[in-house]
Amino acid sequence: MSPHLLLLLLLLLLSVSSLVPAARIPAVIVFGDSTVDSGNNNQIATVLKSNFHPYGRDFIGGRPTGRFCNGRLPTDLISEALGLPPSVPAYLDPAYSIRDFAHGVCFASAGTGLDNATSDVLNVIPLWKEVEYFKDYQKKLRRYVGRAKAKYIVNEAVYIISIGTNDFLENYYSLVTGRFGQFSIGEFEDFLMDRAAEFLTRIYNLGARKISFAGLSAIGCVPLERSTNIQQGGACVEKYNKVARDFNAKLQALIGRLDASLPGFKLRYLATYDTLLEIIQNPSPYGIENVEDGCCGSGKFEMGYLCNDLDPQTCQDAEKYVFWDAFHPTEKVNRVMANLTLRTSLSEFV
Ligand SMILES: *[C@@H]1O[C@H](CO)[C@@H](O)[C@H](O)[C@H]1NC(C)=O
Ligand SMILES: *[C@@H]1O[C@H](CO)[C@@H](O)[C@H](O)[C@H]1NC(C)=O
Repeated sequence: MSPHLLLLLLLLLLSVSSLVPAARIPAVIVFGDSTVDSGNNNQIATVLKSNFHPYGRDFIGGRPTGRFCNGRLPTDLISEALGLPPSVPAYLDPAYSIRDFAHGVCFASAGTGLDNATSDVLNVIPLWKEVEYFKDYQKKLRRYVGRAKAKYIVNEAVYIISIGTNDFLENYYSLVTGRFGQFSIGEFEDFLMDRAAEFLTRIYNLGARKISFAGLSAIGCVPLERSTNIQQGGACVEKYNKVARDFNAKLQALIGRLDASLPGFKLRYLATYDTLLEIIQNPSPYGIENVEDGCCGSGKFEMGYLCNDLDPQTCQDAEKYVFWDAFHPTEKVNRVMANLTLRTSLSEFV
């Protein structure tokens, strides 16, 4: 072969390989609550829904999907950044099939928690059932791509888990479940750690390996909590932020333990707390002007059915807000969180 031809071949090879995205991650698989639910609650009998406008007004096609956001969730943005589809479909959404789910699937349910009692409050999908759906998914995947490829997808996928806020705000501190009387806050955190360990061990046994588990963000700063903190002029509720920090410390310890003890497990903690607080304390570099209120309605209490198109107060430009409704961040903040996830807890996988 002439040196020229060789060079040409080499160049050709190089240019082809640079066109092919590094398809190292076959799928993004999601468990958790409304921070990552892409529409499973649309299909169940709960009042906790968001499949109507103005939810989704900045989503692909301006479509409300059941995401508690004006646009996309961190998981959607991560999927896109990994060269996978630009959104992660909800497992219960009949518009999608195993063809789609082979590249990414979401089992999350808004309003759920680590504690079974949390999902009971608003009749949403308990975490154990998310795992049952994961098993069901694997059966369908094996039928669709065969046993070996299915195992490859399950082992090599990245798993994103975001859960725990509702265990405190909807369950323990709401006083509706009895957990407050049953456990001190420290005991309840320990109880939640046992549930998290149970869950993680279960998905490990089902083949999950590369995992990003989000810590709680500054949950005392959501508009719903701020607007009831009247004594302190609507400041973040420090009691809840402290709970988040304590929970996160225990979660990090648990993650370290499980990561070390289960062979091949790559379980990583995602530190969202400091990032959210940093945006709230110093919003201007992000182009954000309002850190206290949700964009939707008055921004003090509206979420779910209370956040709807009948309210003329909803803001024009959600990019200027930290929060979209009284509980959930805007796509703007989700982009920062997706970026953080890719640079930190997922960096060794991508
Ligand atoms: C949660 O509910 C499931 C299904 O009923 C049950 O198997 C599991 O033991 C429960 N967990 C706890 C901690 O009670
Ligand atoms: C992602 O993070 C990097 C490093 O902090 C930053 O330079 C970049 O602008 C961020 N991108 C987005 C979209 O936030």
